[in-house]
Amino acid sequence: MDLLEYQARELFESFDVPVLPGVVATTPAAARDAFGQLDSDVAVVKAQVRAGGRGKAGGVKLVRSADEAETTAAAILDLVIKDLPVDAVMLSPGADIAEEFYFSILLDRTAGSYLAMCSVEGGIDIETLAVERPEALVKVALDPSSGITADVARDIVEQAGFKEADKDAVAAVLQKLWTVFHESDATLVEVNPLVKVAGGAILALDAKVTLDENAEYRHDDWGNYHETSAAVDLERQARELDLNYVKLDGNVGVIGNGAGLVMSTLDVVERAGRDLPGHPKPANFLDIGGGASSTVMANGLRIIMSDPQVKAVLVNVFGGITACNDVAQGIVAALEVLGDEANLPIVVRLDGNAVDVGKAILREANHPLIRVENTMDGAAAAVAKLASERS
Ligand SMILES: Nc1ncnc2c1ncn2[C@@H]1O[C@H](COP(=O)(O)OP(=O)(O)O)[C@@H](O)[C@H]1O
Ligand SMILES: [Mg+2]
Repeated sequence: MDLLEYQARELFESFDVPVLPGVVATTPAAARDAFGQLDSDVAVVKAQVRAGGRGKAGGVKLVRSADEAETTAAAILDLVIKDLPVDAVMLSPGADIAEEFYFSILLDRTAGSYLAMCSVEGGIDIETLAVERPEALVKVALDPSSGITADVARDIVEQAGFKEADKDAVAAVLQKLWTVFHESDATLVEVNPLVKVAGGAILALDAKVTLDENAEYRHDDWGNYHETSAAVDLERQARELDLNYVKLDGNVGVIGNGAGLVMSTLDVVERAGRDLPGHPKPANFLDIGGGASSTVMANGLRIIMSDPQVKAVLVNVFGGITACNDVAQGIVAALEVLGDEANLPIVVRLDGNAVDVGKAILREANHPLIRVENTMDGAAAAVAKLASERS
């Protein structure tokens, strides 16, 4: 779960990491007020989106008056940065930057440990630095049980080549950032840039934090961090129901058993819809796994049908240990459970173990929403046509 900069800034502040004040605004008028609140001659207006490189995209601008704060905020709130609309900006006092550094702590999945990365050449795109001047990026593997102790912090600042006069101040901040990472169950804490301002103080000027969702149960306050987009909501509901669901942006709901079968179903649906009006495409990935009980099927159909983009549903199941008769019964029972909630055509393709019994059950049920197809291609063509006609 990625935090917005202002949320990460607040988290830093709660662990005594030195940061600048920040005031969030969601309208140009509020940005004008925020400029007044900051009581600084110069302020920076920063787009709050879950993406890096906001500066380059025009989402970080200096302003020198309340008027300018208002017009600049209006422009930034109109931006779409890396496909993300800007719903809020944060205003901070303009910093008198003397030097920019880079620091991050992350979960290194390959090494199975935590890694600290540091450079005295900050502010720039770190991927570029890592490729072009790898020697300028210091990497230190961290012992997860002790993290960044005073000794480790010292080692990092020595290796990175900070000036003697800055070493202690930077090392102190690195230790605090480890505390943020550790106590918050983060998988990433990145500060780019960490800066030295005129006068010598060290400040975190940008803040990027990713939290480990598996640890949510021990953090009562994480509810505020959830994204509010409809797609994220659906995925969260699906997770609560133990469904393996990923939202996509098409209009054909897809349910299958086994990740491989579902993946190929997505491809077949995409191909079937390519030349039809409205270009029907898969609306989701949903693997109901081995069990196709009526509860699992009802939960799956409910999630899919609550996606307003979905116009038709394809159930593609290959009966194995869970035979087709169980799946067919699961579908029929799910539709009974759902009642009026089920309101979209459902194309069903069954094959494998007990396929004939399964199809017979669906025939007998004679449900107005269900249409049985014999092949995967036929089912994909039928569902794409339905979605095309209904969109
Ligand atoms: N408060 C500030 N005062 C002055 N300059 C700032 C301030 N905040 C950011 N900047 C400058 O803008 C650049 C981009 O901002 P940053 O927060 O790092 O966004 P991003 O990494 O998404 O581009 C920083 O590298 C820094 O040079
Ligand atoms: Mg940055």
